[in-house]
Amino acid sequence: MSVPEALAAFIAAVQTALAGPAPQPRIGEALARLVAHDDWLPPAYAQPHPDHYQQYLLHADPAGRFSIVSFVWGPGQQTPVHDHGVWGVVGMLRGAETSQFHAADGSAPPRALGKPHRLQPGQIELIGPEQGDIHRVANALPDAVSISIHVYGTDIGRHKRHVYPDAGGVKPFISGYANGPETPEFSAAFT
Ligand SMILES: [Fe+2]
Repeated sequence: MSVPEALAAFIAAVQTALAGPAPQPRIGEALARLVAHDDWLPPAYAQPHPDHYQQYLLHADPAGRFSIVSFVWGPGQQTPVHDHGVWGVVGMLRGAETSQFHAADGSAPPRALGKPHRLQPGQIELIGPEQGDIHRVANALPDAVSISIHVYGTDIGRHKRHVYPDAGGVKPFISGYANGPETPEFSAAFT
């Protein structure tokens, strides 16, 4: 499958941003342009799992500097409270999701910080150690699939991070990817 034109342009924008100062906000601007139009994500990368949210790897930088995923929510699905450990940018492509930042160190149950906020299609959010790295995210729609496009400063599906259970404590967590034979990574964008 050839790489969608809009995704190829976004990959190039991320590479350009990473070569300059303050890349995260510039990647956010490029991601806002990518999710402004919901006409490029192949349907195979937009399929929900009936039991849990899942993410498809769209592109991993060969040098390991970033990865791009489509994050697909079934109706009503949500994450546990989790961290990332790297910078990230989330852009809402379809539907809506809510994000609630938390304080958590494992010594007590996670504590909500402020109010949850809702991402609508075309909107982006910066996350990471600078902006807030621990949150819970949910599909805001009880009866429809929602999809967001995420960029992280590492190969996020293979990155060691943490989940903070509601009862307290901390668990190691590696999210993995849902890709199968029908959903290969777009790794040959510029060959
Ligand atoms: Fe997250």
